[in-house]
Amino acid sequence: MSKIILLILPMMVLMAAPSSYEQGKNLYFAKGCSGCHGISAGGTNQYPALAYRRKVFLMNKLQNYRSKQGSTQQSQLMIPFAMGLSDKEIDALTTFFSEYHENKSNYKPDLGARGDGGS
Ligand code: HEC
Repeated sequence: MSKIILLILPMMVLMAAPSSYEQGKNLYFAKGCSGCHGISAGGTNQYPALAYRRKVFLMNKLQNYRSKQGSTQQSQLMIPFAMGLSDKEIDALTTFFSEYHENKSNYKPDLGARGDGGS
């Protein structure tokens, strides 16, 4: 009997811990990322969409911003938000983006800058 408990206990601990995806989702809102990149990470007029993008690419970008490297003038807006991120947080955030599976009907990529105004 005690053997069974010893087997089950670690499984319960694992299941109770929030997944990397969930942690990333929480960070996305807690750190204010959604303010620029949109509540469904679909981007807004001037800010890039992050959902459904490749993890490795986004990780690289965040690591570069964190070390104050950016490729455009726009990067200056993004750098302060990346500077405080730990490796673990970058990992969780990019898992959230690349595996994005929130309610799809809420995913509204902002195509305002490119769209045809619905005509
Ligand atoms: C003040 C607005 C703002 C906030 C808040 C913000 N970002 Fe950004 N983000 C930008 C801008 C602008 C760019 C494009 C910068 C560039 O051209 O290099 C960008 C780019 C990125 C990119 C690279 C995307 C690409 O296609 O190159 C990632 C990843 C990213 N942001 C993640 C985040 C995360 C995670 C947070 C929260 C910790 C966050 N952003 C908060 C404005 C913001």
